Amino acid sequence: MHFTTFFFLLSAVFAKNILMSNDDGFAATNIRALYRDLKADGHNVIMVAPVSQRSGWGGKFDVPYTKDLLTDGEFGYRVKGDPAWGYEPDDMNIWYFNGTPASCVSFGLEYVIPKYFSNFTVDLVVNGPNEGLNLGPGTYTGSGTIGATYNSVYHGLPAIAISASNSNNSFYKDSLDDDPTNPANINSKVSVKLIDELFKAQGDNSRVLPLGVGLNVNIPLVGSQSVNGSCTSPKFVFSRITGLDSDVSKITYNETTGLVGTTYVYEEALRTCYNGDCSLPSEAAVSQEWNCSTAVSVFQIDYDATLVLQSQVQGLLHELF
Ligand SMILES: *[C@@H]1O[C@H](CO)[C@@H](O)[C@H](O)[C@H]1NC(C)=O
Ligand SMILES: *[C@@H]1O[C@H](CO)[C@@H](O)[C@H](O)[C@H]1NC(C)=O
Ligand SMILES: *[C@@H]1O[C@H](CO)[C@@H](O)[C@H](O)[C@H]1NC(C)=O
Ligand SMILES: *[C@@H]1O[C@H](CO)[C@@H](O)[C@H](O)[C@H]1NC(C)=O
Ligand SMILES: *[C@@H]1O[C@H](CO)[C@@H](O)[C@H](O)[C@H]1NC(C)=O
Repeated sequence: MHFTTFFFLLSAVFAKNILMSNDDGFAATNIRALYRDLKADGHNVIMVAPVSQRSGWGGKFDVPYTKDLLTDGEFGYRVKGDPAWGYEPDDMNIWYFNGTPASCVSFGLEYVIPKYFSNFTVDLVVNGPNEGLNLGPGTYTGSGTIGATYNSVYHGLPAIAISASNSNNSFYKDSLDDDPTNPANINSKVSVKLIDELFKAQGDNSRVLPLGVGLNVNIPLVGSQSVNGSCTSPKFVFSRITGLDSDVSKITYNETTGLVGTTYVYEEALRTCYNGDCSLPSEAAVSQEWNCSTAVSVFQIDYDATLVLQSQVQGLLHELF
């Protein structure tokens, strides 16, 4: 209990309103650790996260079509027959929803907040920390945690996707403790530091990030999972989404078994730099190869090609326009 007290000696001097989600579910250890610590840091936090594991669902917008759960939720924490959405009996700020990460954010913004927290104006949406890294364009579109994030940005909100290297899908009641070497606690500490830095920089500005912009953050192996427990306070490295070590999923076929499988392959296309500072290291290189470093990449949802590329392709089709 006293853990959070010494963990955050420098408590935030401002209380902001934060909406949280993820794709590993509302009962996952990482999101519960961050929820606890953002609150301990003085912020008002509402969590709306999937009742089931929704990793890899990308930005899919899926809503329940029944009022009850037709199957058990993650870790059997909610079971078949329970309502399709609801809050923790002892904490009305923690909600589950039988939807995808993208629709959980919307359920928070368009149902939970207007109905139960009418005074809550979201300053920032924080998704994660995900169980597992989300590196490069190959995972950008596929990750449910990032899907929740770009959907939040579509709503006009500043949003951050945070992913961590501790990839075990763990239930907070099994794994959340006050041990400062627990990766979930260090991931949370790193996240709070970044979030408070943004709020500090916001000053009197109405927004914490420009319209249409979000962050993708990846945290390396930390604490008890790092070499000799040496990574307890990873340094932040400003990175880009494309670049070295970015991979894409491909199919393998096993002639013996007749089964297909997945493999991850580096592709030149994922190293191509058209936007931003091409000299920045890729987030994939930073979080996998650098020592004890957290990669912070900036994305925009203006997916249009650059002017040069637009002109080039428009030229190819000039007979049509
Ligand atoms: C809303 O927040 C403002 C500012 O914090 C406070 O003065 C007001 O009482 C709140 N209203 C409700 C209905 O909670
Ligand atoms: C992984 O998570 C499960 C479910 O919470 C837990 O029982 C198990 O101990 C965890 N394993 C590790 C290696 O952390
Ligand atoms: C980890 O600890 C061992 C034993 O003390 C030491 O030999 C090794 O160099 C350490 N590794 C790192 C990366 O610090
Ligand atoms: C194909 O599957 C068999 C049986 O599981 C395995 O022993 C073999 O290594 C696999 N081959 C490849 C190329 O992965
Ligand atoms: C990481 O640490 C090792 C051992 O201390 C060192 O040899 C290596 O140069 C470091 N790599 C980077 C990218 O800093």
